[in-house]
Amino acid sequence: MTKKQTMTNNKIKVFAPASIANVSCGFDVFGFAIPKLGDFVEVWFNDTGKLIIESITGAEGLPTEPELNVTTVAAKALLDAVGEKRGVSFSIQKTVMPGSGLGSSSSAAVAGAFAVNELLGNPFTRKELLPFAGAGEQLASNQLHFDNVAPSLLGGFSVIRSNKEMDVLSISYPDDLWIVAAHQQVEIKTKQAKRMLGQTMPISNAVIQFGNVAGLVLALTSHNYDLLGRSMVDMLAEPKRSTLIPQYDEAKKATLAAGAIGTNIAGSGPTIFSFCKGKESAQKVLQAYKKVFQHANIKVNYYQFQINPQGAIRV
Ligand code: HSE
Repeated sequence: MTKKQTMTNNKIKVFAPASIANVSCGFDVFGFAIPKLGDFVEVWFNDTGKLIIESITGAEGLPTEPELNVTTVAAKALLDAVGEKRGVSFSIQKTVMPGSGLGSSSSAAVAGAFAVNELLGNPFTRKELLPFAGAGEQLASNQLHFDNVAPSLLGGFSVIRSNKEMDVLSISYPDDLWIVAAHQQVEIKTKQAKRMLGQTMPISNAVIQFGNVAGLVLALTSHNYDLLGRSMVDMLAEPKRSTLIPQYDEAKKATLAAGAIGTNIAGSGPTIFSFCKGKESAQKVLQAYKKVFQHANIKVNYYQFQINPQGAIRV
């Protein structure tokens, strides 16, 4: 064992929030946490020496084999790191749909790592859990990226300076920043949505992207909503991925006309989100979404919230 541990035989229950990654121009680099939506995971020791998934509720078709499930893969990475040989049982309750663009695999992975860390008496600090949660996320998306994992674990708004070096930063944002999100009931798999982007980008587009990434960071930290709106331009993912999302162009146009600061794709979609200045504006933008989707007869779940500053918590 590499770290001093205090054991507990009680059941431990944790919550890890959903999140919105990319945030327009910050592909694999930006992400923020959502309140209330996410994964609840309960863990306790068993005497089999194995990891056992006792139940999964709230989502269909997720694997119950521990080596194929994101939560238990993340948990096992941590248990192996401390040489823990005892078995652990898991009860998983999801309130965020896989394939929604709301970081379902990351909240699952973070909850797994966070829960067993609590069960062992916190041998690791919160930030030290990143690689373990990353092991779970990698199983889901075939690539190690932390733009959903970091905000789910740490809360707030994350900037991933380097996914490879796991260099994760937190930045501030305005107190009156509100988000409206519209989730259509179609599933988009991150693995496929990543493949459709190809491997290269013209330098002329990359230069536009760099400018907007810098602008967006400055806009959030200096509370400059005009700059925030100007910087929410994505040359990399939005042009291709928006074609997978019914009513995307209509929803973007209508929400901007209703006062949204910017509208873009949540993660790899299909959820669309808007940044708004203040609650009142968010309510108007919500109505604009509803009008578009009701007109197109599409069933949508709507969320209106402020960024969750807490990240994963024990409940
Ligand atoms: N940055 C990731 C992507 C987020 O866009 O593919 C979704 O997991």
